[in-house]
Amino acid sequence: MTYDYQYFIKEIFKLTTIDLSSYKEAQMKRRIDALITKHNIKGYDNYINILKKDKDELNYFIEYTTINVSEFYRNTDQWKILTDTMLPDLYNKFGSNLKVWSAACSTGDEPYSLVMAMSGFQPLSKIKVTATDISNEIIDKAKIGLYGSKSIVGVPDQYKMKYFKQNGNFYQVADEIKRCVDFKKQDLLRDPYLTGCHLIVCRNVLIYFTEEAKSEIFRKFYNSLAPGGVLFIGSTEQIIDYKEIGFKRLDSFFYAK
Ligand SMILES: C[S@@+](CC[C@H](N)C(=O)[O-])C[C@H]1O[C@@H](n2cnc3c(N)ncnc32)[C@H](O)[C@@H]1O
Repeated sequence: MTYDYQYFIKEIFKLTTIDLSSYKEAQMKRRIDALITKHNIKGYDNYINILKKDKDELNYFIEYTTINVSEFYRNTDQWKILTDTMLPDLYNKFGSNLKVWSAACSTGDEPYSLVMAMSGFQPLSKIKVTATDISNEIIDKAKIGLYGSKSIVGVPDQYKMKYFKQNGNFYQVADEIKRCVDFKKQDLLRDPYLTGCHLIVCRNVLIYFTEEAKSEIFRKFYNSLAPGGVLFIGSTEQIIDYKEIGFKRLDSFFYAK
């Protein structure tokens, strides 16, 4: 029996509930094929058998396929727009109890950057950011909050000095920043979404999804926002059907409900 990619992704769904059929096939298949070749494994069937038995390999597979590169203040020019324009507007409109969601937060760089950006407007004790990701392993790393020097290049100097402590070659984010973030596991393709959000940041993950999956997710984000709330997307992304969904485009990567 030949085990093809479609069979493989069905088996992966049974094992992990991750629906790889909603990710762009050519890209995902290329990554998985490269992984199988690197491991010297012959065929999807052999690889599935390994993944069924070896929990560490399965965790590695999840981390590898879900791609978790991130950095603080990723695309600093967009964070400047967030800090100079979007956040002041949101605080004006909604007051200090902003409900903020970093969706597909990876190693925490993004939610911790949000806390730092918000700290320019209110005390840390009042800031709460919900951060979600599909991978438990990545959430565990985010909670530890240890970063290489490259990850923190974009952090404004005043926050670098205030909120990071050098630890060998790594930088430890301060507990007072960590305390503002509530990490949870959430799969954007199948789990419930937060509601009543004033700001949703979802960047550099939907690029991996099929057009249908992406459109469905943008609609769900729209429903998650409070009227007037803002969705901040990645610098290579756009919402093609934003008008049909009901969004108003505020700037290239910011859309309001
Ligand atoms: C490239 S990182 C983006 C991190 C951060 N948002 C940024 O822009 O730097 C993509 C993240 O999306 C997560 N992810 C992939 N598929 C997901 C899904 N279906 N639901 C939730 N998170 C997902 C991965 O685990 C990974 O941490």
